[in-house]
Amino acid sequence: MAYAAFRSIGAYVPQKILTNEDLSQIVDTSDEWITKRTGIKERHIAAKDEFTSDLGAKAAQKALERSGVCVSDIDMVITATISPDYFCMPSTAAIISTKLGIKNVTAFDISAACTGFIYILSIAKAFIESGMKKNILIIGAEKLSAITDYTDRGTCILFGDGAGAAVISATYNKDEAIIDVHTGADGEYADLLMTPNGGTGSAHDSLEVEAGTSFMQMKGNETFKVAVRTLTKDVKEILADNDIKSEDIKHFIPHQANYRIIKAVGDALKMRDEQVIITVDKYGNTSGASIPMAINDLYESGKLEAGEVMLLDAFGGGLTWGSALVPFSPSK
Ligand code: ACO
Repeated sequence: MAYAAFRSIGAYVPQKILTNEDLSQIVDTSDEWITKRTGIKERHIAAKDEFTSDLGAKAAQKALERSGVCVSDIDMVITATISPDYFCMPSTAAIISTKLGIKNVTAFDISAACTGFIYILSIAKAFIESGMKKNILIIGAEKLSAITDYTDRGTCILFGDGAGAAVISATYNKDEAIIDVHTGADGEYADLLMTPNGGTGSAHDSLEVEAGTSFMQMKGNETFKVAVRTLTKDVKEILADNDIKSEDIKHFIPHQANYRIIKAVGDALKMRDEQVIITVDKYGNTSGASIPMAINDLYESGKLEAGEVMLLDAFGGGLTWGSALVPFSPSK
C-alpha cells in the first residue's frame, strides 16, 4: 500500500508591510489595543496587480524546488482559498498550475476558510493512499486584503496576505507516512464568520454586487470562545486516537488567528512555550495560508527536523475545524 509523505514546504509573503501604527491612521485603534488583544504587530499586503495565484505560485515554486520532484511528475494541484483570483471560475489551482508550467493535471480549489490547509492535506492523503495520484502540490493562498473592510476596526486589524505550499508524495516507507488527519464542519455557526454578499444566498437579487460589499464579517467575541473550545477538543481527540502524548510533540503548529487563542489552547493542552509555534505577530491571520507559512518559518529557522511529527490544528469560517499528525519526511 502507498502512504502519503509530507516532502517539502515553501511560502511567500508580498513585500508591503501594514503595521498597527499604519492601521491606527485608518480606523480608531492603537498598536497597544491590537497587540494586547491579538498579539499581531504587522501583516503583509499584496499589490493591486498581485493576485492570490501569484502568491500561491511563488510559495509552490519553493516547495517544488525543495521537494526534488519534477514539475512533470506533479499529478494534482489543490488550492485552499477564500480569496480566489476569480469568483466561481476558473479555479486558482488551475491558474497556479499554468504559472508553474504544470500541464494536464487535476486542479481544483476548496473552501474551508482557515482550516483549508488541513482539508487539502486530507484530500492529498486520500488520493495517494488510494493509488490514484503520486505527487500532489497543496497550496494555501490568500489575498485577504481584497475582502477586508478597512472601515471595520473589529476585522481589518486581523488579516494579512500570503501563501504556503507543500509537496505530498507517495512512499512505501510507513515511517514517513502522514499519521492521521481529522476534519469537521458545522453550518449551525455559519453566521459567526461570513462574506454575506456575492453569492446566491446574498441579500442582493443578482450575483452582480456593488464594489466593496463582499467583505468578511465576523462576530469576533463569540468566534473566539468557540475557537478555543473546538481547537482544544480536536487536538485531544487526534492525540488520543493515535496514542500520542502532547509532551512528545516537538512542534505544535496551530492556525494563527490570535495569540490569546493559541495561548489558551496551548495551556489547556499543557504545552510548553517552546512547543507552540507563533507567527501571528508578523503575518496576522492569513486563513488557509497560515499553517504552511508557519511550517515554512520553522523550516527556514533550521528547527524543523526530518522525521519529527508536527501537530497541526485549525479552526475557521463554516465553521470548520481540523487537526493532523504529520511527520516531516524530506526526500533523502
Ligand atoms: N481597536 C480598538 N477597540 C476595538 C477594536 C480595535 N481594533 N476592535 C474592537 N474594539 C472594541 C469594541 O468596539 C469593544 O468596545 P466596547 O466594549 O466599548 O463595546 C471592545 O473593543 C471589545 O470588543 P470585543 O469584540 O469584545 O473584543 P475581543 O477581546 O473579543 O477582541 C477580536 C476582538 C480580536 C476580534 C477577538 O474576538 C478575536 O480574535 N476573535 C476570533 C477571531 C478568529 O479566530 N477568527 C477565526 C478564524 S478567521 C477565518 O476563518 C477567516
